[in-house]
Amino acid sequence: PGEQAELEGRIRELLARENAALVAHYYVDDALQSLAEETGGFVGDSLEMARFGARTEATTLVVAGVRFMGETAKILSPEKRVLMPTLEAECSLDLGCPAREFSAFCDAHPDRTVVVYANTSAEVKARADWVVTSSIATKVVRYLADRGESILWAPDRHLGEYVREVTGADMLLWQGSCVVHEAFKAQQLGELKAEHPGAAILVHPESPEEVIAMADEVGSTTQLIRAAKERPETELIVATDNGIFYKMQQAVPDKTLLEAPTAGAGATCRSCAHCPWMAMNGLRNLADTLERGANEIHVDPDVREAALRSTQRMIDFAE
Ligand code: 13P
Ligand code: SF4
Repeated sequence: PGEQAELEGRIRELLARENAALVAHYYVDDALQSLAEETGGFVGDSLEMARFGARTEATTLVVAGVRFMGETAKILSPEKRVLMPTLEAECSLDLGCPAREFSAFCDAHPDRTVVVYANTSAEVKARADWVVTSSIATKVVRYLADRGESILWAPDRHLGEYVREVTGADMLLWQGSCVVHEAFKAQQLGELKAEHPGAAILVHPESPEEVIAMADEVGSTTQLIRAAKERPETELIVATDNGIFYKMQQAVPDKTLLEAPTAGAGATCRSCAHCPWMAMNGLRNLADTLERGANEIHVDPDVREAALRSTQRMIDFAE
């Protein structure tokens, strides 16, 4: 505890010294989320993180999350220095959609509007017409479908199938998935629900279709926290990375939050749904990054320019 307080104190000083804002995702360590809030930074979902990074007056952004979040910040704010506690925090969706293969896939389907999830590299965003996050994917696709456009969607197949189901759009799907959400299992979820029949089920749309089918609410991390507040139930079963419990429990201190079960979970840890890459962000590497100005995100200027078009469309659409 003494060491943690010392590190937190140092980070506060360094954030001020560097005119830096800490922008954290809900899936990172609680200590980073609370520091981001207390120091005038931000905690939010992927879309809100991108929007905050673009509007803050800080000249350095320290993004506690995974690499695509740092790259998105840099794409939107090239004049800002973007640092991350580690450059090794990947995402299985990003890794599963290499730019060269993706580009060939797009070339094979030139008539389709290319919509990619934010969980992709800058190169993949550069090839896309639109970037979306889970909070606005359905709205954007419905808007495009209403204009008669057919869609090439990448990389998350579960989110893609969910959006297709909701909108009825013609969507061709890349077959990527999130290692964390893919592990949620409908059968075990049904058993937990049978034990808690009064509980509402909140599900992130990167989860498998049969899990989404059991949901009372489907949405981005921020949307799920909002739903936790608005739902009348006092017990909530939550199918997303368990990093979200820190802010969700603060939002609903009187409600009981239960982790949705994952495959292979044992008796002591029913779910254990936690992203190994998000978990690489800690107080120590955050302090070190700020101290040394290390782990800076760079995006090739040509790639950035192309990626900005598709990413800015998302930001403008969300206004
Ligand atoms: P949102 O925070 O936008 O819901 O996305 C979750 C995610 O994929 C982060 O890893
Ligand atoms: Fe990627 Fe899933 Fe980790 Fe989010 S939780 S960063 S989607 S692997």
